[in-house]
Amino acid sequence: MLTKITVVGAGNVGATAAQRLAEKELARTVVLVDVIEGVPQGKGLDQWESAPIEGFDTRVVGANDYKPAAGSELVVVTAGIARKPGMSRDDLVRTNADIVKQVSQQIKQHCPNAIVLVVSNPLDVMCWVTKQVTGFPRERVLGMAGVLDTARYRAFLAEALDVSVEDIQAMVLGGHGDTMVPLISYTTMSGIPVTQLLDKTTLDKIVERTRSGGAEIVNYLKTGSAYYAPSAAVVQMVDAIVHDKKRVLPCAAWVQGEYGVSGVYLGVPCKLGRNGLERILELKLSAEEQAALAKSAAAVKETMAVVQL
Ligand code: NAI
Ligand code: 2OP
Repeated sequence: MLTKITVVGAGNVGATAAQRLAEKELARTVVLVDVIEGVPQGKGLDQWESAPIEGFDTRVVGANDYKPAAGSELVVVTAGIARKPGMSRDDLVRTNADIVKQVSQQIKQHCPNAIVLVVSNPLDVMCWVTKQVTGFPRERVLGMAGVLDTARYRAFLAEALDVSVEDIQAMVLGGHGDTMVPLISYTTMSGIPVTQLLDKTTLDKIVERTRSGGAEIVNYLKTGSAYYAPSAAVVQMVDAIVHDKKRVLPCAAWVQGEYGVSGVYLGVPCKLGRNGLERILELKLSAEEQAALAKSAAAVKETMAVVQL
């Protein structure tokens, strides 16, 4: 377990992630930081009071400043505003870039050695803002999106095949948005290619539903976006890092020529260990998948151009 993990943003994703981190005892202390007075303190105390029932010893504390966060080995950034119905992730870019800039300055000052996992949207662009402002190497600034997009894809496939989610192996690459790239050619049920189990029309529908998975939840909730699966996804990444598991998960990483793309955050298969990103794995993609990845990278770069750093 780590000594301290900080979660910035005590809203839906941040607070749920803090609780999951505590229940898994991934750190001695989980610090929740938010700008709203009383909210991180209240949620932190409420979570800590669940410890005797759930049987964990991680202390959850809330704050409106970064002093209690000082020296955190890992920071999860969920600060920002969430999507409302009809809003694209990119509509959020300017507001959230200002918020993430401010948060990144605080991380640089108070947690200079931390690994940072970004969740705020638009995800790939917010990762870039974090990397630029903190000046941290790419090994220590990663984004969560691919684990969530892949979980949605796996859930829909398990439903269609009427099998356990545990038996679906898959990976969704690319940016976190409409241009994400589910790798159908690498999707299997216990090693059997899904293309042998489902017809093209069914697979196409599942891919489409995965692409609009975030919007599907927003349309139900109306006043916010998904947080149970997103918080579970970020905690899976934290777990892989804390336990030095060398797991290969789809994460947003700063690419430097991998997949023929540079100068952008993009969802790619990443080996995660105690120091963060250990390696980006380069898979052989079909021409169609490679083109879709290039299109996704171009879409992320277009949104980056909106941000003034
Ligand atoms: P939320 O609105 O419930 O919580 C956001 C929290 O951030 C609020 O409590 C707010 O007070 C806080 N905040 C705002 N400015 C801050 C600052 N400067 N410092 C500290 N805290 C600040 O939103 P929710 O649902 O928790 O989503 C958070 C972000 O995560 C959104 O941008 C959302 O779009 C994104 N998201 C990304 C996902 C992904 O797959 N990457 C999945 C789900 C959400
Ligand atoms: C999601 O995919 C809103 O990006 C968030 O649910």
